[in-house]
Amino acid sequence: MKTLCLYYTRTNTTKAAIKTIADIAGADVAQYTDGRKRTGLLGYIGACFATVDNTISKVAIKGRVKLKDYDRVIIGMPVWAEGPCAIGRALIKKYAGDMPPEVYYVVTHMGKNDYMAKIKAMDDLLGRPSKGQISIRTKNNDYIKEAAEFAVTLD
Ligand SMILES: Cc1cc2nc3c(=O)[nH]c(=O)nc-3n(C[C@H](O)[C@H](O)[C@H](O)COP(=O)(O)O)c2cc1C
Repeated sequence: MKTLCLYYTRTNTTKAAIKTIADIAGADVAQYTDGRKRTGLLGYIGACFATVDNTISKVAIKGRVKLKDYDRVIIGMPVWAEGPCAIGRALIKKYAGDMPPEVYYVVTHMGKNDYMAKIKAMDDLLGRPSKGQISIRTKNNDYIKEAAEFAVTLD
């Protein structure tokens, strides 16, 4: 199964989880972004507003990636403002028609809430059911181990 792992990251946590999964699954990895710098307090506040108001105007996958070359895509993103970040949701909406048959969501977050209802709700953007979803807590949790455990469940 040809697998592509995609990630958006602000502070490299989602990147580390996704790279762990990709290593185990033998997958290609690519980053996606809206091109905006989101460092510092202003970046944090802007990220919250973008997520609450759905104001991401552009998002793109970096590099020469053809989604149609893959059988499976694993999309990583952080939680911002109590839900999957606006950039991840914008990516799913923009590329829904090109996504491979199997789509998985890997969502990282600090708090104890698992955000699963909001993670599964991204299927409305995809236009069909995703194959799997995982919510990974990063604070006080070995999130790399959790990512690795998820990866070995993939067939
Ligand atoms: C703007 C912003 C809002 C966030 N909101 C939440 C939240 O509501 N709940 C939560 O558990 N974590 C929240 N976080 C923490 C991130 O989801 C968490 O640290 C994530 O793993 C960071 O991933 P990254 O390093 O790949 O960007 C927020 C982080 C940012 C930057």
